[in-house]
Amino acid sequence: MAAVTETWLVLGGGSTIGRAFAQRAAAAGAAVLLAGRDVAELERSAADLRLRHGVPATSVLFDALDLEAHRGFARACATLAHGRLHLLLAFGVMPTQAACEADPQLAQRMVETNLTGAASVLTALAPVLRGQGGGTVVALGSVAGQRGRPRNHLYGATKAALGVFLQGYAARHARHGVRVLHVLAGPVDTALTWPLPKLPFMVSPAAFAAATWRLARRGTGQVHVPRIWAPVMAAIRALPDRVFNRLDL
Ligand SMILES: NC(=O)c1ccc[n+]([C@@H]2O[C@H](COP(=O)([O-])OP(=O)(O)OC[C@H]3O[C@@H](n4cnc5c(N)ncnc54)[C@H](OP(=O)(O)O)[C@@H]3O)[C@@H](O)[C@H]2O)c1
Repeated sequence: MAAVTETWLVLGGGSTIGRAFAQRAAAAGAAVLLAGRDVAELERSAADLRLRHGVPATSVLFDALDLEAHRGFARACATLAHGRLHLLLAFGVMPTQAACEADPQLAQRMVETNLTGAASVLTALAPVLRGQGGGTVVALGSVAGQRGRPRNHLYGATKAALGVFLQGYAARHARHGVRVLHVLAGPVDTALTWPLPKLPFMVSPAAFAAATWRLARRGTGQVHVPRIWAPVMAAIRALPDRVFNRLDL
């Protein structure tokens, strides 16, 4: 077996996209750290990765809302990594706009998970990445963050704000070898979107993970996955308000 030179830490290791990405990384010979709340379930996925791909894979407890724990979590990940550590930010929640309007605590929890929790854990992990001379951060944003839609503008706001955080994070740590790829994801067929009506240009988690994995090897900055969303969002963003507002998207 070839020596393992890198580890992908999947934050949200139980997410549909995170699990598909972990399969890709392990198939390419990388070690995998699956981070999330349900450690028993993550350990089963890690065992599957070890068995299928013969790479080191393990689980680690992570709760985006437990900000106090993030520094200790980052230190633990540094000791568990084989070779250089890279990150996939793949956790998030998306209650409906109506549910958030009915329950402000649900809205607060979404902001705290998607934005505060993401910013906190990336900040805690920055010294680890810098200390090893750099690393790649792939963060799952959303086309929903590119123009506020009536049906999900609170979720979209968390993703737009995450994008601004990532811009500054990339600029701040670039000279220490940290590369940031902000993926503006279109709809993917996962637990997050199962409650929604069929969405346009929806892709499977495996197809999404394959495209993201390819981009993660060389890309930085912002990129749409799948690519069709670049022209679609350019068109949607160019619509005047009077037209956009009538669409009730
Ligand atoms: N699916 C799409 O169409 C789509 C489009 C654009 C962007 N994205 C983004 O892609 C990422 C992955 O989404 P997915 O579609 O794969 O969704 P998913 O299968 O529903 O997974 C969401 C994950 O987030 C985790 N999570 C929620 N709250 C957490 C917390 N406090 N601490 C740690 N983990 C927490 C969940 O963990 P538990 O299992 O413990 O609940 C779950 O594993 C999300 O950031 C999402 O916003 C998805």
